[in-house]
Amino acid sequence: MRMVDIIDTKRNGGTLTDEKLQFFVDGVVDGSIPDYQISALLMAIYFQGMTSSEQTSLTMKMMHSGERLDLHQIPGIKVDKHSTGGVGDKVSLPLAAMVAATGIPVPMISGRGLGHTGGTLDKLEAIPGFRVELSEQEFIDQVAKEKLAIVGATGEFAPADKKIYGLRDVTDTVDSIPLIASSIMSKKIASGTDALVIDVKTGAGAFMKTLDQSRALAHALVDIGKQAGLQCMAVISDMNQPLGNKIGNALEIEESIDVLKGKGPADLTELVLTLGSYMVVMGGKAETMDQARQLLEQTIADGTAYDRFKAMVVAQGGDPRVMDDYQVMPQAKYQIPYRAKRTGVITKLTADEIGTASMLLGGGRQKADDQLDYSVGIELHHKLGDHVKAGEPLLTIYSNRQEIKNVEQLLDESIEIGDHGEQPPLIHEIIE
Ligand code: URA
Repeated sequence: MRMVDIIDTKRNGGTLTDEKLQFFVDGVVDGSIPDYQISALLMAIYFQGMTSSEQTSLTMKMMHSGERLDLHQIPGIKVDKHSTGGVGDKVSLPLAAMVAATGIPVPMISGRGLGHTGGTLDKLEAIPGFRVELSEQEFIDQVAKEKLAIVGATGEFAPADKKIYGLRDVTDTVDSIPLIASSIMSKKIASGTDALVIDVKTGAGAFMKTLDQSRALAHALVDIGKQAGLQCMAVISDMNQPLGNKIGNALEIEESIDVLKGKGPADLTELVLTLGSYMVVMGGKAETMDQARQLLEQTIADGTAYDRFKAMVVAQGGDPRVMDDYQVMPQAKYQIPYRAKRTGVITKLTADEIGTASMLLGGGRQKADDQLDYSVGIELHHKLGDHVKAGEPLLTIYSNRQEIKNVEQLLDESIEIGDHGEQPPLIHEIIE
C-alpha cells in the first residue's frame, strides 16, 4: 500500500477502507509516513469529509494506537461527561459530585486550559494540596470507594491523535468535523467509560460558532460513540456568554461548591441538572428524566453531593476546609469594579473575550507551559438581557496588579449595552 494512493482516494472524494485507515494510523505512530503526506491527507479530509463509518473506523484505530483503561474492577455502569470547551464552564465539578451521590461511578479524565478556555484540572489545583495525577490503580480504587475521581490522563491515550493534532494546528485543518470528532472520541473511548454525555458548546465563545456546525459535530460525536458500543448523547448548550458568574480558577471552585450548597447561579445549576439527568438515566438509577432530576435535586437538598465532593478533595490530598472557607485558596490583592458606560440592556457579553481577559490577568495560559495565577479572574454581576444603570458595576476584576488597562480595553470590546436585548436559550438542542 502507498500513502500517495490513500491521499488520492480521499482527494477525489472516495471512501477510505479499514485497511487504508489502519495503514495511515500505523504510519503516523511509527513515523514511517512523513509529515507532508499526513498533512496532505488531513487537507483532503478537510475538504471531502468522511462517511460515518469512516469516522468511526479512524476513531477506533487512533484509540487502539495507545493504552486503554480497563475499569472492570469498578462495579456498575461507569458514566462520564465531555465538554467541547467554554468560558466559565465548571460543570464537571458539581456534576461529578451530584451524579456520584446517586450511586453511579464517575471516572472523569479531564484536561487543562489553553487560550480563553479554562481546564478542570487547573481549577482543582487551586485547592491547596489537590493532586490530579493519580496512578491507574489509585484512580480505580478511588472511583470504586468514593464513586468519583477527576484526574489527568493516566496513560498515553491515542498517541496517533497527538501527532495528528499537532499537524492540524499548523496546517489550518483543526476545524474539520470528522477530525475533531475522531480526536475527541478516540481519547474518550480509551478512558474506559460505559456511557458518555457530551456538552457541545455553541456561539461566539465556542469552537463551533453556529448552531448548524454544532449540530453536525454533536451528531458525529454521538454516532461514533454509539458505533463504538457506548451509551452516548449530546446536549448543545449556549456559549454566547460565559456560563455562571465566575471565571478564573479559585473563583470557579467557589461557584461549583455553591451549586452543591443549593446557592449556585441559575444557568449553571440548570445545565448541571440537565446533563446529570441523562447521566443518571444512562447509569440505570432512574427510568425517566423527571425521576433523575428529582434524585439529583435531592443530592443537593440532603448534602450528599457536598459530601461526595469533599470526599474527593480529601482522597486526592486537597484541603477539605475549602468546602466552607474559600479563603484557603489563593486570593487576589485587588477587586476592581468595571462599570456600565450607559443605561440600557446588555446586548453583548462575548464569552471568548471575557475568557481572554481572565487569561491576561494570569488565570489562563497563552502557551502550554505558562504558570497560572489561581486567584485572579472575573465575576459577572449581570448577564445578557439584564437592565443596567450607567455607573453601576457590571463585573468585578480580581487582579494582583492595579494597572489593568489591557484587560479593561478588551472588556470594552466584549460588552455592549443597547436599548433592546434578550437572553439566549441555555439549551439549544438535544441529540440522542
Ligand atoms: N479537542 C480535542 O481533543 N480534539 C480536537 O480536535 C478538538 C478539541
